[in-house]
Amino acid sequence: MCGIVGYIGKENALPILINGLKKLEYRGYDSAGVCVMHKNNFSLVKEKGKIENLEQTLLHSNILGNVGIAHTRWATHGEPSQLNAHPHLDCKGRLAIVHNGIVENYSALKELLQKEGHIIISQTDSEIIAHLIEKFYLPTGALAEANDGDMEIATIKALKLIEGAYALAIIDKNTNNILVAKKSSPLVIGVGDEETFLASDASAIVAYTKKVIYLDDNEIASLTQNGYSIKNINGELIDKKIIEIAMTVDQIEKGGFRHFMLKEIFQQPEAIENTLRGRLALGTVKLNLQFDVSLIKRIIIIACGTSWHSGLIGKYIIEKFSGIPVEVDYASEFRYRNPIVRQDDLVIAISQSGETADTLAALKEAKLRGAKTLGIINVVGSTISREVDSGIYLHAGPEIGVASTKAFTCQITALLLLSLYLQQIKKPIDNTILVELKNIPEKIKEVLAQSDEIKKIAEIFKDSKNFLYLGRNLNFPVALEGALKLKEISYIHAEGYPAAEMKHGPIALIDEHMPVVFIAPQDEIYNKILSNMEEIKARGGNIIAIINKRDTKIEKLAKYIIKVPESINELSPLINIIPLQLLAYYIADLKGLSVDKPRNLAKSVTVE
Ligand code: AGP
Repeated sequence: MCGIVGYIGKENALPILINGLKKLEYRGYDSAGVCVMHKNNFSLVKEKGKIENLEQTLLHSNILGNVGIAHTRWATHGEPSQLNAHPHLDCKGRLAIVHNGIVENYSALKELLQKEGHIIISQTDSEIIAHLIEKFYLPTGALAEANDGDMEIATIKALKLIEGAYALAIIDKNTNNILVAKKSSPLVIGVGDEETFLASDASAIVAYTKKVIYLDDNEIASLTQNGYSIKNINGELIDKKIIEIAMTVDQIEKGGFRHFMLKEIFQQPEAIENTLRGRLALGTVKLNLQFDVSLIKRIIIIACGTSWHSGLIGKYIIEKFSGIPVEVDYASEFRYRNPIVRQDDLVIAISQSGETADTLAALKEAKLRGAKTLGIINVVGSTISREVDSGIYLHAGPEIGVASTKAFTCQITALLLLSLYLQQIKKPIDNTILVELKNIPEKIKEVLAQSDEIKKIAEIFKDSKNFLYLGRNLNFPVALEGALKLKEISYIHAEGYPAAEMKHGPIALIDEHMPVVFIAPQDEIYNKILSNMEEIKARGGNIIAIINKRDTKIEKLAKYIIKVPESINELSPLINIIPLQLLAYYIADLKGLSVDKPRNLAKSVTVE
């Protein structure tokens, strides 16, 4: 989703802005632009497509200036084009703005502004904001008020009319500062030595400073070379804490891997160790939760996409270990279906980014209805992590590839910790599971060592048009996640199904052109899965099976086999998903597709 970077300080702004935009590429975008201010003049350059296109145009431009804002746009209103790219100007070209979010009432505002004579040139909702500020900033005739001419006051007036979400940065030719404001879209301020930064997330500025301030909703800040002042939407000054972030530049580089996604798949053993670190001790699980868990009668998990899949696995394991009933909802559905939420409910929001608009909105709804809330989040300091009563950070490190991989396995790990934590209130935890949890990273390494064999299978199936993924019990969500990974990055249609449900419809699709991926560990329903495989084989389907090392039966049924180490049932998704991530990765890469930044997708979906 759109990325914002800004700089004001002693250095030339342009290289800092471009470097920052590159760090935000993973969020997904289709055009990019920059506006640098020098001696009360703007240099504005925008291009459709990749940041490299923008750099080409900038090559001979010799743009100088110590103040600037930049943006990568992910189209919502209006096609990806140079005209629709940000920054946008007001009529007189005095203000330049960049915006992430959606102005929901933009049609009404556009009509109003056009009636007043504003010339709106793009199809975006964002350009409206520049004109709206202009409306209050440069009034004409008798309507002028005492404070008109003050950009901050004009901006506050404009923001009060906007319905929807915004992270906003504004520069004004006549003022040496950057104004920023936020509502429901993330924005972070970086505090340097005689320089101040802003960005959609800290990865864009971590190379320059580790001191940050996360802006909260309805806050507006004025940034100068020497610092910042932050106010609420009523113009009252507020005090905010500077936070020291732990992220390093190395963590956001590819480290010798061909793609971030591959790096992140291979990082999973270490990432899971980081999620476990300090949380297992002497047969117990230690979590720092800020409420009395013994009062919880029901758990509701809300999430989207991959995080929703880990939520489905969470249902199995929480119910199994703690006996507390669990419901799992798509965050976008939960919010709009007038959900029944009680005070003894715990609502868990799962989100890698901690910024997903649907999850955030559902969480706020749950809070309004009186539930206790818990976040299972990767990005430290993200909006959801600040909104919940308590949280479990994944500590998986930055996930840059749009297709989520290490966040998924770390989310399952965090859910396992939570399940055991809830169990230990009633009865001691069985030590074998704790020992096995610690063994998981090594077992994942064993699967990763087979990546060449998985690549060979990818070669065979890379031109398939459809895929079916089948699993049962805990491995049904693994099938869903395997199918999602393939769809996202290879653009091959794929569906995940509970294996037994296949005969109620999808079996009609089976023929020799249909690869069917089975996740088939030797669990209590192993024999049932064998029957499902027979059904596929009888109809000529091509079976690719993820099986346990000691399995000898499936080799006779499946044409293609990937052997993975055995584990305790509840931990098996952590191992079984790895070959599916690799299969999707290699298919997409062999097809020559943009693995880390697939078309139409954004890493952090900050609009509804
Ligand atoms: C995963 O590969 C996807 N890109 C997507 O489904 C993602 O999981 C979803 O948008 C939720 O994101 P979050 O975990 O950051 O909330």
